Amino acid sequence: MRGFALADAPKLVDTIAQLVREAPFRHMTTPGGFRMSVAMTNCGSTGWVTDRTGYRYDACDPTTGTRWPAMPAVLSQLAARAAAQGGFADFRPDACLINRYEPGARLSLHQDKDERDRDAPVVSVSLGLPAVFVFGGARREDRTRPVPLAHGDVVVWGGESRLWYHGVRPLKEGEHPVLGRQRINLTFRKALS
Ligand code: SIN
Ligand code: FE2
Repeated sequence: MRGFALADAPKLVDTIAQLVREAPFRHMTTPGGFRMSVAMTNCGSTGWVTDRTGYRYDACDPTTGTRWPAMPAVLSQLAARAAAQGGFADFRPDACLINRYEPGARLSLHQDKDERDRDAPVVSVSLGLPAVFVFGGARREDRTRPVPLAHGDVVVWGGESRLWYHGVRPLKEGEHPVLGRQRINLTFRKALS
């Protein structure tokens, strides 16, 4: 959904800056021991985390031991509107993963499968530098399709494609007029059933 979040973008950027003051971006470690090139944080009643013990959702930020900041209405309402437009009524996300990509950062092909509610879609909002999102199929070896994403673009996947493989190619060098040398992506999910 090209430009779906453009009107909200200034408010989103301010809101993210506030959230990040409470729960700063950090480079998490994969279960295999690799430091992720994407820096992450969360808001919502639960948040996605990874460390040497695995991937999971946790109500608390492991770096502070306190709860993730609540999901501001401007975020949850945008996600619900996007989901509805994509054919998913009554989307009430409980988790918003906030990803920060600097040039060179990438996200290898993966499935979003740590959520218990698989009926709810995933809603992704892109801000800042453009990126190439790749969307595949149900199997890792399925052919992937590149989807260029720019500031304000929104992607909704769910139903049959809910567990399809996807990733983000290494971010190209650039300078965005609002966000500078970075891309920020929000993914909204319903993690708890
Ligand atoms: C994700 O797959 O969780 C993030 C996708 C993106 O950054 O566009
Ligand atoms: Fe994902």
